[in-house]
Amino acid sequence: MNDQIGPAVEATGLTRVYGHGPTAVTALDGIDLSIPAGQFVVLLGPSGSGKTTMLNLIGGIDHATGGSITVDGVDVGGLDRDGLTAFRRERVSFVFQFFNLIPTLTAVENVELIANLTGADSAASESALKEVGLKAETDRFPSQLSGGQQQRVAVARALAKSTPVLLADEPTGALDRASGDGVLSLLRRACDEHGRTVIVVTHDATIAEVGDRVLHLVDGRIVSDEKNDHPLDPALRSASA
Ligand SMILES: Nc1ncnc2c1ncn2[C@@H]1O[C@H](COP(=O)(O)OP(=O)(O)OP(=O)(O)O)[C@@H](O)[C@H]1O
Ligand SMILES: [Mg+2]
Repeated sequence: MNDQIGPAVEATGLTRVYGHGPTAVTALDGIDLSIPAGQFVVLLGPSGSGKTTMLNLIGGIDHATGGSITVDGVDVGGLDRDGLTAFRRERVSFVFQFFNLIPTLTAVENVELIANLTGADSAASESALKEVGLKAETDRFPSQLSGGQQQRVAVARALAKSTPVLLADEPTGALDRASGDGVLSLLRRACDEHGRTVIVVTHDATIAEVGDRVLHLVDGRIVSDEKNDHPLDPALRSASA
């Protein structure tokens, strides 16, 4: 996003505590983070470390209990209900572990449903499906697609929505290595060819090598923040595995 001023994501003292009193859980414990536009970030950490919480705060589907978070120049914490709806529609796309496709809609209808929110026409949905290699499968229902193909539909949906920030929570978690690498390649391209800021959450350390930057989260804190100047092409991972 060349017209953008400042980073894609800026968090200061970002905190999320679930519950109250003695049973309260601190999922995020004062995160300071700046992600430049167009970076491919891998967010790594063990189960319960706060990865999904972090992604949900960036995506405006959960709220912080302390600190601040700015995404694509928008102070997410300062938005009211309508503002949040508009923010989620225009600024962020999600890819989930279990695809979240609507079973009664075909592949192209699943993409259109989301793409239309941002005013994209049907041609954008067709071309996104073509981009993920599913040109021949556009009229199939999710149940007629493999897991890897379903996740590629979910990625097509995120591509067609054409938002500056793309968030993926364990996008390869339900896939075998080759299918997972296919999905990572698509996300990598969204970054390299379309300039999207991509944040991928995973507990699979081997995925780290495809990112420009790797953040390690432990107990709601960033314990390491590493740059990777030579990210590996995901398509080459399977070949070398
Ligand atoms: N809605 C909630 N209510 C209470 N506690 C929650 C809630 N959501 C998450 N937590 C707690 O917050 C902490 C961080 O959870 P989070 O889902 O962000 O972890 P994660 O790193 O995504 O884990 P996983 O790899 O298992 O998906 C955990 O201790 C979890 O139990
Ligand atoms: Mg999670």
